[in-house]
Amino acid sequence: MKKILVVVPALAGLLLGATLTFAPAITQAEDSATVVHERQQLMKNFGGAMKTIGGYLQGGIGTTEEVAAAAGVIAEGAARIPDLFPAGTSMNDVMDPKTGAKPAIWEQWDDFVADAEIAQARATTLQELALAMDDAALGGAFEALGNDGCGGCHKEFREKLE
Ligand code: HEC
Repeated sequence: MKKILVVVPALAGLLLGATLTFAPAITQAEDSATVVHERQQLMKNFGGAMKTIGGYLQGGIGTTEEVAAAAGVIAEGAARIPDLFPAGTSMNDVMDPKTGAKPAIWEQWDDFVADAEIAQARATTLQELALAMDDAALGGAFEALGNDGCGGCHKEFREKLE
């Protein structure tokens, strides 16, 4: 018998006082490949954005406007992370393409979402500082984004693919 499970994360969150959320559900193998590609592309874009920001800070390359735009790419992208990790798309579920998404993501979904929110918050802070051309504070904000934002999540939830 075929079971159809419909999960409405936002609504469920509201009904449960926003303390419990669920990973969005996925049904087809084709969809899983698409979503894995999409989130890996998003992460690659994050890598490019970090390179832009690091280039400004360490090599004086580019402008604060470019730093602000790069931070904006991360802030906006981080908000999309939970939707790009539907249940059933861990590294144990999807073999093609290879994914580095650990099963822990779905075992500790709330922590994973919280890590995405931290990345979003750190990127927003960095964006605001860049827009204010506060060069003195940018280095610390960049480090915080890398360590708490990217690193905080990767440490627990990402298996590095070769
Ligand atoms: C909330 C968790 C989370 C945050 C925040 C996060 N990542 Fe990731 N990242 C992951 C996971 C999980 C994967 C593995 C995805 C996959 O292979 O399906 C990944 C993969 C990657 C990859 C490899 C992509 C590929 O093509 O295989 C890069 C590069 C990356 N992240 C960069 C970043 C950078 C830079 C940041 C911060 C600006 C960041 N990530 C923030 C969870 C996160």
